[in-house]
Amino acid sequence: MIEIVSDLAALRARVQAWTREGLRVGFVPTMGNLHAGHHSLIELARRHADRVVASVFVNPTQFGPNEDFARYPRTPEADAAGLHSAGCDLLWLPTVETMYPFGVDGTVQIRVPRVTETLEGAHRPGHFDGVATVVARLFHQVRPDVAVFGRKDYQQLAVIRYLVRDLAFPIEIVAAPTLRESDGLAMSSRNQYLSESERPQAARIQQCLQWMREALRAGEAREAVEAQAAARLTEAGFAIDYAAVRAPDLSLPEAGADGAARVALIAAKLGRTRLIDNLEFEL
Ligand code: PAJ
Repeated sequence: MIEIVSDLAALRARVQAWTREGLRVGFVPTMGNLHAGHHSLIELARRHADRVVASVFVNPTQFGPNEDFARYPRTPEADAAGLHSAGCDLLWLPTVETMYPFGVDGTVQIRVPRVTETLEGAHRPGHFDGVATVVARLFHQVRPDVAVFGRKDYQQLAVIRYLVRDLAFPIEIVAAPTLRESDGLAMSSRNQYLSESERPQAARIQQCLQWMREALRAGEAREAVEAQAAARLTEAGFAIDYAAVRAPDLSLPEAGADGAARVALIAAKLGRTRLIDNLEFEL
């Protein structure tokens, strides 16, 4: 059975023993309520490492005051069983006190500049500070050789790459493809908030991203595509945060200067549920 550890000294001893044996340690940080998308990250980590550690920690500092921290689904038994089947060796399950020994307000915080200022960062102030802070702490606790993050959270991946480079973490970052439901909806712990009538509607986000790709390939201007995408989703009942086209580093693409690689990103609320997705493509 999978080993579950909530004590930092025990975690350190375990990982150090592996490292001393010359084993490569992989790491997959999560907030739990795990689905097949998370399990695919464990499987990918297995291909890059000899032992795999996952963490489950619903991180209070990355939720805004009006977000879903309190009602974020917590399913520890199912998570442990799923991690075990996916090939995870150790589950790191820290308490809030272990993660923030001086309290949420008393701890050192990490702020990644620039890439956090647009898109998700503009709509969720402080969110990426919370993510960067908790991931830096998790990296120091676990000390993995390689860590896996999903492309589903495209901007988060960019923030993590920046963090690792700037603080010189000796950790290889591997990006995992987005796992989807059969109608294209990106798997997410938040999908279960969707009502029966909202659930089929939610697939429109991925359809809209594909429409954006085709419109751009047909030569339409970026701003027009963004505006039309937002209008289409608004008409379908979504409250749009953004529908954006960016260069892969999330800067505004300049015709000719940025090559042909693009990413289209959407964040929108359907009822009470906020959904994000993205699509990477060549023009
Ligand atoms: P969480 O939302 O639980 O996601 C954990 C990891 O799973 C992230 O790297 C995310 O991109 C990935 N993931 C989510 N849905 C996916 C899908 N459908 N296909 C593939 N990968 C998917 O992201 C977080 O937690 C937190 O911000 C965290 C990094 C753990 C810091 O608290």
